[in-house]
Amino acid sequence: MEPMNKDIVIRGQQIYLRPITVEDTEMVVRWRNMPVVVKNFIYRKPVSCEDHENWLKNKVFKGLVHQFIVCRNEDQLPMGSVYLQNFEEEHRKAESGIYLGEAQAYGKGIGTEAIHLMAGYAFETLGMHKLAARVLAYNTASRRLHEKTGYVQEAYLKDELFLDGQYEDLVMFGAINPRG
Ligand SMILES: CC(C)(COP(=O)(O)OP(=O)(O)OC[C@H]1O[C@@H](n2cnc3c(N)ncnc32)[C@H](O)[C@@H]1OP(=O)(O)O)[C@@H](O)C(=O)NCCC(=O)NCCS
Repeated sequence: MEPMNKDIVIRGQQIYLRPITVEDTEMVVRWRNMPVVVKNFIYRKPVSCEDHENWLKNKVFKGLVHQFIVCRNEDQLPMGSVYLQNFEEEHRKAESGIYLGEAQAYGKGIGTEAIHLMAGYAFETLGMHKLAARVLAYNTASRRLHEKTGYVQEAYLKDELFLDGQYEDLVMFGAINPRG
């Protein structure tokens, strides 16, 4: 996949998505290490600024990941991040991910709108046919968010992961491009 267009802005009703930049590093690392985010992610180790800069250099700036910052329309404040990764161009597939990092962002429909906007980008701009998402079974908000944005549950994997000393179930979601 080509690296994302640095000037793209995807506008929604209460938020817009803009490409992540190096200047976002401190903020994104703070979000990514918040307990509420870590406990809902499969990768649990603390992320340093150096780790994140390597992620930007090796993944985002090479086009292997397309990552956005989710900002509020009313005051441009950054609230979290959404991204596409694990592109399989032959199959026109990618995996989506999301985390909100500001406490004031939760439960206001921001996550739902962010995934909706990013799915539109994946389907219409990138021409993807299918998006996948992996959600830990206990993450009710994320399961609901995906159901509300056109994803359907494709599998429920019992005891799929061993995280922090216990087995956890994983739900696999898939969304198909309505235009093919
Ligand atoms: C998952 C996440 C992105 C949801 O974003 P959000 O903006 O808070 O969610 P929304 O306000 O769009 O709500 C989506 C749905 O989840 C429900 N929901 C939101 N927070 C919830 C909670 N804490 N418990 C149960 N349901 C919840 C909402 O009610 C809504 O469903 P409804 O329309 O049927 O009422 C956000 O909670 C988050 O970033 N969590 C930490 C990281 C994470 O879990 N990432 C996803 C990994 S797969």
